[in-house]
Parts: sequence; C-alpha cells; structure tokens
Amino acid sequence: MRHLVGILAVLLSAVSLQASVKGSETPVTHYYPTGDHAAAIERRVDHLLGKLAEEEKISLLAGDGNDGMSTIAIPRLGIPKLVMADGPQGVRAHGPACSFPSGIALAATWDPKLAFRYGEALGREARARGIHIQLGPGVNIARTPLNGRNFEYFGEDPFLTGKLSSEWIRGLQSQGVAATVKHYVGNDTEWRRMEIESVMDEQTLREIYLHPFLKAVESGGVWSVMSAYNKLNGFPSTSNKRLQEDILKKEWGFPGLVMSDWWATDSVDSIARGLDLEMPMAYRVTKESVSKALQEGRLSSERIDDAVRRLLRMAVSMGFLDREQRRKDLPLDSPANSALALEVATKSIVLLKNDPAMLPLDKAKMHRVVVYGPNAQDTPAVGGGSGGVTPFRKVSFLEGIRKALPEGAEVFYAPTRIKKPFSLFDFLEYGKSVPILPRITGIRKMTSIDQPNFTRINTSTERAIGISWGKNYPAENVPKGREARITWDAEIEVPQGGIYELVAEGHPEIRLGDRELGNPDSYVMPLEQGSRIPLKITASEVGRGSGRVSVKIIPVAEEATGLFPAKSADAAVVCVGLTPEVEGEGFDRGFALPISQQLLIKQVCEANPHTIVVLSGGAGVDMRPWISKVPAVLQTWYLGQEAGTALASVLFGDTNPSGHLPCTFDRTIDENPSFRHYPGTFPEGKEWPVVDYHEGIFYGYRGYDRSGHEPLFPFGFGLSYTSFDLSGLTASPTSDGHIITVDLANTGTRFGASVIQLYISLTGESTLRPLRELKGFRRVELNSGESKKITISLPDSSLMYWHPVKNQWVMPEGQVSVEVGFSERDIRMTALLPKIEPPRLDQPKSDPMGSVSLRPVPSLSTNAL
Ligand code: BGC
Repeated sequence: MRHLVGILAVLLSAVSLQASVKGSETPVTHYYPTGDHAAAIERRVDHLLGKLAEEEKISLLAGDGNDGMSTIAIPRLGIPKLVMADGPQGVRAHGPACSFPSGIALAATWDPKLAFRYGEALGREARARGIHIQLGPGVNIARTPLNGRNFEYFGEDPFLTGKLSSEWIRGLQSQGVAATVKHYVGNDTEWRRMEIESVMDEQTLREIYLHPFLKAVESGGVWSVMSAYNKLNGFPSTSNKRLQEDILKKEWGFPGLVMSDWWATDSVDSIARGLDLEMPMAYRVTKESVSKALQEGRLSSERIDDAVRRLLRMAVSMGFLDREQRRKDLPLDSPANSALALEVATKSIVLLKNDPAMLPLDKAKMHRVVVYGPNAQDTPAVGGGSGGVTPFRKVSFLEGIRKALPEGAEVFYAPTRIKKPFSLFDFLEYGKSVPILPRITGIRKMTSIDQPNFTRINTSTERAIGISWGKNYPAENVPKGREARITWDAEIEVPQGGIYELVAEGHPEIRLGDRELGNPDSYVMPLEQGSRIPLKITASEVGRGSGRVSVKIIPVAEEATGLFPAKSADAAVVCVGLTPEVEGEGFDRGFALPISQQLLIKQVCEANPHTIVVLSGGAGVDMRPWISKVPAVLQTWYLGQEAGTALASVLFGDTNPSGHLPCTFDRTIDENPSFRHYPGTFPEGKEWPVVDYHEGIFYGYRGYDRSGHEPLFPFGFGLSYTSFDLSGLTASPTSDGHIITVDLANTGTRFGASVIQLYISLTGESTLRPLRELKGFRRVELNSGESKKITISLPDSSLMYWHPVKNQWVMPEGQVSVEVGFSERDIRMTALLPKIEPPRLDQPKSDPMGSVSLRPVPSLSTNAL
C-alpha cells in the first residue's frame, strides 16, 4: 500500500489534474485514490456534474447503441466516449491481438505475480488500441464442470480465484485501463442464463460466490462490476438492490460503476436499485422511461447523479479525461506480450498421469512421432463466445511438436477416419450389421417468443428435429426485435436395445425422460428394447452458438477401423478434448468426450504403448473409458496463441510441468456434489427455471470431502518430472494472525516448481464446516537438491466464516489446524494453532476471508473519495 500512496502523491502534483500525458507515462494507480488525491478528484467530478444538463446525465446512464461497446461522449465538457472491449483473454474485436491463455489456465499456474503481469500485458494491448475498459476478469465459480464458461474463470475455489483475479485487475489497471469484474453473481452455468434464478443461502453466497467480487474491490481496486443475466434469490441481478447497493456499494465501499451485462437490464427501475449503466444501449433506460420514473417518484435525481458520478469518478481517476487513450508508442503485435502468453501457457499445463514415467520424451530418441486428434492441427486457443480473440498467429500442437524436434525426425499427422458414425455408409464400412435404430417419433414443434412470457406463435407436426436459424426462418410471425424459441416434444422408440449416443448439434437444451441434461453435444445412454422415452428439445436464438440445430440418435460402435501409423512410432500424441464449438458462452456442455475421440484414444493406445493424451478444455471430462489404458495425460486448458510451443516444451522436458488443478476432476459426473442440483428445474408457479445451490458450501472438493467419494484428480493436484518434500512446519503468531513456515526441498533430479498449499480445518464448531479450505499458497521454483524455507501468512481474519444461524462472520470457537501439502488430498503436515484470544477477534470490516497479504483498507466511502 505504501508504494501506492507514493504513486498517488506523484500524480497529485498535477494540481489541476489536467496534465496531458502522451506516449509512455507513469502508471495511474493500482488502487482507488485516497486522501488529497481523492478529494481533488471528487471536486473535479462535482464540477463536471454541475455542468451536465439533466438530459446529458440521462444519456450517460446507458451505452452508445451505435457501436454497442462504449459510453456516450459529452465533447463540450471534454468527457470522452469510453471504449470497451471483451476479453478476458485478450482484446477482442479490435483487429488481431495477442490471444492469452484463458483464465482457468492462469489459475492453474497458482502464481499471483504472473496474474499481475498478465493483467499488465493485457493493459498494454488495450492501451495500444485505445480501449478504456476491459470486460474482465470473469470470477464465477466452477460449481460444475459442465458450465460452458468455466474456461474464462479461475476454477472452483473462492480464495484462489480472489487472489489471482485481484492481481490481474491491479496489473490491468496499472496501465490505465479499467477492469470489469463479472458476472455479479451466481452466474455459474450458462443453461438458460438469461432467465434462470440462482437460489442459495446467505452462508454460501458470502463464503463462496461473493468472495472473488469482494477481493476485486478490496484487493484489486476494480473500477467496474458487471451485473449478471440471472436472477438471484428472487431478484434480477440488475435490479437487485441488496447486491448492488447494500453489499457492493455500502458494505464494501465500492466507489466505481455497476454496468449491466449486454441486454440484461431488467427495467428502468434497475437504476433506482443500484445499476449505474445499461449496456449496450438505452433500451430500458431511455429518456422517456427515466423521465416517467422520476415523475412517478420511482427514481430520484440524487440516484442519477450518483450513477453519473461513479462513471466520472472512474474516468477522472484513471486519467481518461487527460490523455490520448491510444498509446501509439506501444506495438499492436508485441513480442513481449507473446512471450508472456507463452510463459503462462507453459506454466499452466498440468501433468495428470505419467505412469510408467514416460515423459519427458527424449528428443534425441524421437525419430518418428505420430500426432492424432481433431485438436492437433486446429488447436483451440480459447473457448467459445465473447471471450474469443483473433491472434496475429497461432502455433498448433502439431506445429509446436514439429518445430521442437531436430531435423530428420519425422512428425506425422494422422487425420483419422474416425468420425461420428452418422450414416448407414459408416456402419457398412465397419463391416457391422446395421442395427434397427431407435426412432424419434411423434414430434410436435412449438415456436414461441423467448422473453419475457414465452408467447406461443405456432405449433406443427414434424418428421425430424432440426432447424437452421436464418434471416426469415423461423421468424414467420416472430415480431421484429423479439427472439424465437423452438421446443420439440417427441418420444424415443427403441426397437432394439443397446448403447446409444444422442448427438446434438447447435447446443439445444435436452430433457430426457424427467431429467434436464443441460446442453450436451453428446449423451451416451443404455436403451432398453421396447421402451419409449419422452424427449424434449429446446433451442433458443438467444445466446451465442445457436446456428444449426439437430438431434440424432446413433448406436455406439464398439470399434472403428483406422490407419494407425502409431504402431511403428516412438511416441503417439493424441490431441482431443473440448473446443469452442462444444464449450462456450450461451450453453453448457456434456461430460463425455465424443465417442469418436474415446475410440481414437483406445485404439492409439493399443497400437503404441508410448501414447500421450493431450486434453483441451475448461474443466474435467469423463476419462473413465480410457484413463487406465493411457500412460500419460496432460491437461492443457486453452493455451492461447502459443499453445503448440508450450506443449512441446513440456513434452520434451525443456520445461518441467508445474500446473496444479484449480478445480476437482470428477471420476463420474454423478459423484460431483452439485450434480443433483444441476442444471435446474421449472418450479410450479414460476415463469423461469430455478437452480437451487442446495449443496451449499459443500461443492467441489468441500463436497467430496463430505461425501467420501474419491475424485479422479483432486483439487490442487499436478505432477512434476522431479519430486518435492515438505518438513519443519511451524506457526508463529504475528500482530494480526500467524506466519506459517515450512521447508520445501526438491528431492529429484531436475529444476522444477511446486505449489505449496495451505488449508485450514475447523473441527470444534457448532456448525458443520468443510473438512479443509484453502487459505494460502506459494508457487516455488527450486533446483535439484535445493531446499528453501517458505513463509505464508495466515491472518486471523481469514479464519472467519459466515455463521448460518448468527448470520454474520464469526471467528472459530474451537481448535484450528493448519495443513500443508501438494493437493487437497495430499496433505503432508498438520499443526494446531494456539487458541486465538477474544481481544484479537475484532469483526473485520474488510478481508473477512483473508488473503496471503492483508493490506490496510482505504477509506472508500463515496463522500470521502
Ligand atoms: C457476456 C459478457 C460480455 C458481453 C459483451 C455478454 O453476453 O455475458 O461476458 O462481456 O456479452 O460482449
């Protein structure tokens, strides 16, 4: 904090705050201004506010509809149009830009300093393009692996998410670009995201889902918060006064701006309830609707002033009024940013399995390598939706492997003939008798207008489930500006029993029997001869990724033929997993890999014992069908533009893998603690679906510890080519908590990095607590044979939890044990903390969940700023 004050003091010397800074410049601030600087800013904001006409103020309550990605400019007062860009993994839609690894990859590095540098590099990318506000980071929680947007977020743990995302924010804002933490809050799945209501108890909300947002304000100093599409506990997010006004602005002292997600604004009353900016344009918050709300007393001019003040405060504090936002001295295609993208990618790869130890591959012995799989050549840099970035260049896995090997080594790409066996031709080719396939019968199609009341437009009888969204199709009778939703009601008839795969294109929602499946693209199921199963398919134009929709049922082939040069290769690399087509914004995904990929893995493994499976995706997939047969598995997330270089570096041992899982990898999806409460239901009397976070705080690893199930790979897990050991755990008291000290030794033969994880366990409480919870971590690099004493601070405030009966933060009454280890299930040492005496238990106004380094809380009351 002290250095921040120093930076602020320098900035303050520009008394009028008009100093125009062009070219390279001093970073604005990592945090909200305080003291005299804050007072000067507030005076300037007051001055501007006083000059704004009412109509101008109202126009600042909504985005500029002409481009849908900016605010309105008021040139006569020197208030610029504030330009926004999606991320979070690069600058989107402003020409090519550096495509950084996705948020989940950054989380897998467990490296806060790297998160800061990531934010900084993104900030430079944004400044080079004149962007004022980046729409990131996303800090929703991986409650289920099926969430289509997990890849953008930081995994399942609020502490890890809060720590890394707040560093990301500080890095970005240090470059004079405002961050937007999103999506506030409970937007943890994409299924029916525009209308769904998330329901959770206060403890779950406080301890888990709000925590990263709190840290974004407290530790990150974030300037903007994006209100989500979903409702929370009965209220649309944009109209949720408790969330926006009471918690965010009053309790946490957030001085910045709350903007809506795109088209999410509930009504003009949202402004009265704490929303400050409707995006992307004045749709609900128009001149007319605001005037009417003012006349009817539903909205006050003080609230309008406050909303505008927040926007101006951000703009003045970040220097937007006093400089060219576009820095011409920064390159659009920056070698330094590409290098950072590569560093993050390399450090994020998680070695899940290496048994028998086959990796790293010895380059000198690699005369022939065969690379398989759909992701080898067309390596996904990022998941689907608004997070996508178009890079200047991209290194595929195949290219990366080719470039890494010496001349003379042969690298084959074997484009397999295995595809989804859709056609009769495929079955004949496999030499199998054609089974009598299940049929989808009795199809009734209903078209309705999507929101808000699902007005039915027409119904018809169809022969197949399928549609292509087009200019006029199915728009017949759909009024202009309204979105269509189509529902097909049908039955599956099964003349011959067996295992079948339901293959869905275009991410429709699927209900099979009485189960909501979400939006998987592939669902494998046993079907009994003679059975008839109700099938309901819903496709909506709302959200991305609609396109063509079709649903088919195909038998699962037991084997497929293919060309397998793998037999004679020194190693075979199978690049499979998820892609932006199956994992992205606007839809959730299935847990199984497409059958074709499962077959490919099995067959390559059979052909070559030196097979490495390389998985892309934002969370775990079902590995049961093949994991025991495969010697080596690497989880590569979405690695951005340098994916291939990073993979090759790990495969061939130039880098020792050091990524650790930021989310639990389930063995089966039905053991996932949230599975029973996913994706939601349609309760009687409600016009929208509801997802009840019934598992509460016992989700992810906290849920596994309670259920006793063994996950496939636990939270925090990650192998290395070297080995580490921990010893000498001690806990020494400090003025506000404890310093935990432990000795880490690299006991193997290579340089490498390990992630020490610190969990606490509260066993003597009157209310049930998780077995353990992450409260600190350190990524440490060590040479072979080297040891280091590592300290991690554990503030008393981080021990607090939300008491479900007292309905407030409380300190533990019983014993606190501290556990250190290399994953949530690999605890090496435990120590008891001495009982904490009551005088030290002051209710923290800030930082109730703790952080590795606790910092003083600046005065954030809006009057003081
Ligand atoms: C997404 C946001 C995104 C916005 C602007 C929305 O659909 O949910 O994350 O920032 O679009 O593209």
